[in-house]
Amino acid sequence: MSWVEAFFDDPTYDIEYAGLLGDKERTAKEAAFIIRELALSGKDRVLDLACGHGRHALEVAKAVTHVVGYDRTDHFLAHARKQAEELGVANVEFVRGDMRELDYEDEFDAAYNYFTAWGYYCDAENQDVLARVVRALRPGGRFLLEMINRDALLGDFRPRSWQELEDGTVVLVEQRFDFETGRSLTKRIYLRGSDRRTVETDVRLPAPEESVRMFRQAGFARIRLISAPEGGALTAKSWRIAVIGAKE
Ligand SMILES: C[S@@+](CC[C@H](N)C(=O)[O-])C[C@H]1O[C@@H](n2cnc3c(N)ncnc32)[C@H](O)[C@@H]1O
Repeated sequence: MSWVEAFFDDPTYDIEYAGLLGDKERTAKEAAFIIRELALSGKDRVLDLACGHGRHALEVAKAVTHVVGYDRTDHFLAHARKQAEELGVANVEFVRGDMRELDYEDEFDAAYNYFTAWGYYCDAENQDVLARVVRALRPGGRFLLEMINRDALLGDFRPRSWQELEDGTVVLVEQRFDFETGRSLTKRIYLRGSDRRTVETDVRLPAPEESVRMFRQAGFARIRLISAPEGGALTAKSWRIAVIGAKE
C-alpha cells in the first residue's frame, strides 16, 4: 500500500485534521485568496485539483459558474457531495480521479491545488501533473499551487512533535528533510490503546526557484510567487507559498 492510501484512506485523517476541516473562517480566507489571486469571475469554470472534503470548492462555487472538485479519496468525496447537497450548492461537481491521469483539455478558466496536495510522487510524475493542468486549462487560464514554504519549514524545523486526538489516539511525528531529493519525510505513529499504526509520508517540497522552473517547463508563463493566504511578497518566513502561472 502506498503512503497516500495509508494516510488519506484511514478514518483517523478526519479526526487528526478536524481543527482545519472545521475552521470555517480559515477556509473562507483561503477561498477569498484563491478567488482574488486567480482573478475569478462569474463566468469561470474552475478545477479544484485534490479537493479533499471540498472545503474550498464549496466557497469558490459562490463566485463562479461551475467548479469541478477532483480527488482520489472516496470518503472525502462522499463528505463533499453531502455538504453540497446540505448547503444547496448546485454548481459544483465532485469527480473521483488520480491527478496523474487528469485528462481534461481546454476545459477550465482556472485551477488550484491547495494545502500541500501535490508532490506526492516521483519528480517525473509530479512534473507531468503540472503539464496535465496546463492541458486542462483554456488559453489564458490560471493555476495556483499552494504548499508549505520549504525555506520557512527549514528555518523552523521541528524534528519531533506529538498530539492527542479527540478519540484518544496519540500521534507521534518524526520529520526529516532529504536535501538530495528535496523531499520532506515524516514517520507518523498512531497509538490507540494497544493498537499501533505507522505511516511514512514522502512529499516533494521544491525550493521557490525550483517551482518557477517546474512551472516554466510545464508550459506556464507569467509565473509569480506570493505568500499564502495573505498575499504579498514571499519571504523566508512566509509559512505557506503560492506559485501562480498562466497558460499563454
Ligand atoms: C492535504 S489534502 C488537501 C485537500 C484539500 N485541497 C484541502 O485543502 O482541504 C491532499 C489531498 O490530495 C488528495 N490526493 C492525493 N493523491 C492524489 C491523487 N493522486 N489524485 C487526486 N487526489 C489526490 C488526497 O485525497 C487529499 O484530499
